[in-house]
Amino acid sequence: KAAEKNGYEHFMLKEIFEQPEVVRATIVPRLSMNEEQVKLDRIHITKEELDNTNRIYIVACGTAYHAGLVGKYLLEKMARLPVWAETASEFRYRDPVLDSHSLVIVISQSGETADTLAALRMAKRAGARVMAIVNVVGSTMDREAENVLYTWAGPEIAVASTKAYSCQLAAMYLLVLYLSRMQGTLSREEFAILRQELYALPEEIQSILERAESIRHIVASTVQKSVFYIGRGLDYYASMEGSLKLKEIAYIHSEAYAAGELKHGPIAMIDGDTLVIGLITQQELTEKTVSNLKEVKARGAKVICIAEEGNEKVTEAADEVIWIPKSHPMAASLLANIVQQLFAYYMAVKLGNDVDKPRNLAKSVTVE
Ligand code: G6P
Repeated sequence: KAAEKNGYEHFMLKEIFEQPEVVRATIVPRLSMNEEQVKLDRIHITKEELDNTNRIYIVACGTAYHAGLVGKYLLEKMARLPVWAETASEFRYRDPVLDSHSLVIVISQSGETADTLAALRMAKRAGARVMAIVNVVGSTMDREAENVLYTWAGPEIAVASTKAYSCQLAAMYLLVLYLSRMQGTLSREEFAILRQELYALPEEIQSILERAESIRHIVASTVQKSVFYIGRGLDYYASMEGSLKLKEIAYIHSEAYAAGELKHGPIAMIDGDTLVIGLITQQELTEKTVSNLKEVKARGAKVICIAEEGNEKVTEAADEVIWIPKSHPMAASLLANIVQQLFAYYMAVKLGNDVDKPRNLAKSVTVE
């Protein structure tokens, strides 16, 4: 076991540190220079079929669902396709409108999660097209979906998902580029810029990993009892993932909230025992979220902000800022999430928890 951990104290930490490499493996072979389209071998959807699709559902559980929310946001914004993202356990029991004009995209690390698999089968029965974004080659979802996009994260041992999530996001970025090109909503020039941005991601992740020690220090001095993660747009979805990670392994009560919704309830709970983690990677939303952070700080909360280098405005509202490299808005929240992974990891270690095998959780939920 120790050898398998490659010198790291836990599988989770090893997997966090593998992210530059696995994200590169997921992106680079599909995005060669000089090409004008992404190469996705097992995606067979034609332009005609896409034109014939009037709704897309992205269905998944847990961390994979959070990748689905990012997909929904980006497919709408960039490919101008109507998309709904939903947890599989809700989707499968609510009789959604599904027919041959629907495309259902399931996302799963294991390819075996019971609810997600049931959703895939339900979609097939209804005549919808199905696509699986999976990590395990040969898994049931891999075998049953007509379209497959692999995440090349390699085996993920720690129960809390880290590298598989980053690869799900990377795969989603590729799919967004692919469908946007097909839709005609992304010019050749824009495509070339985004390709460069995606090529730069592994190094940007690496530069965050090099700051792990400073994140450990911040965790060491953090004792708050209750935590809110807030953000807007893609930062809100990343907040959900950050909050889930803290619950999973640190067993700390935390909640993700859309920053603008704070004033509709949760702000009543803010006091000196609260920590608010504000995500600000979407530059145009800086002022809005900064003003929400000022509100919670005035009520005694400790505020940690995760923001892009150079966005000095955030310092006005934060006790601590954890900086991430400046990146494309599409991919910036992936970087912010690397910080969140390290934050949750060091918190769980500090509390003496079983990081790789948190209580009550299973790596793959194959029964309902
Ligand atoms: C379990 C795991 C989570 C994972 C979820 C979905 O709850 O503990 O880490 O996100 O299942 O798993 P999947 O294999 O479908 O991605």
